[in-house]
Amino acid sequence: MAVDMDLEALLRAPAIEMAEYPPKMITLANGKKMIVRQADIKDVPVLLQAVRPTLEIPRDYYDIVGARLYAELLGWYRHRVRNEYCLVGQIEGYLVGIVNGRMVDKDIGMSYHTLAIDRGLRVGSHLFAAKMEYHIEILGQQEVWITAESPIGFRRWMIEYGLIKQEGVQHELGGASSYKLTRDLYFETKPRLVAGKRPVSKRFLDEAMDKIMVADEDAISEKICGVKGR
Ligand SMILES: CC(C)(COP(=O)(O)OP(=O)(O)OC[C@H]1O[C@@H](n2cnc3c(N)ncnc32)[C@H](O)[C@@H]1OP(=O)(O)O)[C@@H](O)C(=O)NCCC(=O)NCCS
Repeated sequence: MAVDMDLEALLRAPAIEMAEYPPKMITLANGKKMIVRQADIKDVPVLLQAVRPTLEIPRDYYDIVGARLYAELLGWYRHRVRNEYCLVGQIEGYLVGIVNGRMVDKDIGMSYHTLAIDRGLRVGSHLFAAKMEYHIEILGQQEVWITAESPIGFRRWMIEYGLIKQEGVQHELGGASSYKLTRDLYFETKPRLVAGKRPVSKRFLDEAMDKIMVADEDAISEKICGVKGR
């Protein structure tokens, strides 16, 4: 595609330099090791491939979350979202979950989405915690704004973290109520909710960095729904 770089320079959002998320390893309840690490913009096409099957899964609101996550990742790829990042969870190279968000400014982080492909192991919960860790500890932000689009999300974030409801604040994901995680609340909840060990051994890190493997469409639907097909 021929790109008019003069016009493109006007359309592209100028980005803040963002510190990199140091990879970590989490041992899940079934003993499997999940590597949590930052995705590169070049990984977006493969991430979109993994998200695409969720667009047709209404169960537990995967369709709306998947559709929005798809648009956000594409927005990052096409340089239409400012300061976006994405963290992924991988087991033996396979993608098991995705989280994303962005820096609004130096102090405020905007949490976008959390999507778990492998279920029943708190993969989504661990990845959300990694996202909070990134905003507060790595980017050094003061607070993260969060909203929920599903009852499971509400239980996992608003209830488990005791997030603070924000009156008169508009979250970027639309009209749903906005909540926030402050630095104090993060460090209070960290011992209970933020897991993982660093550094990740070379063998596990090389396996994760080599390639993001994606299960086929039927396998993704089966993992999410717990049954064959949709
Ligand atoms: C919200 C989400 C990220 C949480 O991920 P998670 O922490 O890994 O949790 P799971 O989805 O595996 O499990 C959530 C509950 O559903 C149950 N569950 C539903 N379907 C399941 C399945 N196919 N296999 C295993 N467990 C399943 C689990 O037992 C669990 O119950 P619990 O809350 O009593 O522990 C994930 O459910 C998800 O991606 N949902 C769709 C998108 C979404 O809602 N994102 C958040 C927007 S705010």
